[in-house]
Amino acid sequence: MLSRQVSTLPKTIAAGVRQSSGWFNNVTMGPPDAILGVTEAFKRDNNPKKINLGVGAYRDDQGKPFVLPSVRSAEEQIISSKMDHEYAGIIGLPEFTANATKLAFGEDSPIIKAKRNATVQSISGTGALRIGSEFLSKWYPNSKVVYQPSPTWGNHVPIFKFAGVDVKNYRYYDKGTCGFDEKGCLEDLAKIPEKSIILLHACAHNPTGVDPTPEQWMKMAEVIKKRNLYVFFDMAY
Ligand SMILES: Cc1ncc(COP(=O)(O)O)c(C=O)c1O
Repeated sequence: MLSRQVSTLPKTIAAGVRQSSGWFNNVTMGPPDAILGVTEAFKRDNNPKKINLGVGAYRDDQGKPFVLPSVRSAEEQIISSKMDHEYAGIIGLPEFTANATKLAFGEDSPIIKAKRNATVQSISGTGALRIGSEFLSKWYPNSKVVYQPSPTWGNHVPIFKFAGVDVKNYRYYDKGTCGFDEKGCLEDLAKIPEKSIILLHACAHNPTGVDPTPEQWMKMAEVIKKRNLYVFFDMAY
């Protein structure tokens, strides 16, 4: 380990020298983030009754971060269990992935009983999307296109594109009703080429907060099954 560190040190210095000689002058600025822009506007606003509708995080009545008691309790359990800080296996901690699987599919899921799931631990939801999109890009044989709801969480687009999966959309949100565009969605799903990948938000759709009803989910499922689409659920909430 020590010899590895020593041998990489000169390279780090060399990279710094190259940077200062203009090798990275063609790096362009990334696009602005609309949600963080709302937070900036909130900070500038002097109205005492202002409400921050940007990042979706809990706040108390004073606008300060509010940590859920369940999160505090989990933190305490982690600290008191005196974990050993060893590396997890390549696909994560077996106890964690087993419980995450139960949460995602339900305790009595036939999928778990038949051992049809493959569960991998990631660092955050963004990390999970990265692993999932890279996996499909490399191994899914039928399509290199993912259909995402319009609109969707801003990072869904670049994560899939950078993994080599092209991004297309299906109608989801109706600006007129501020609700789910059932007709538009079902029409678009019916036109998606067979065996394409479709991304769905399990609940609390970001950024609209609009979810289909159980009946609407069933209608979507019917079309998705008919088109033989590969379903990719982002279950961030
Ligand atoms: C729909 C959706 N997926 C994934 C993520 C990323 O989750 P994480 O913050 O754990 O990376 C978010 C976070 O805002 C999200 O809204």
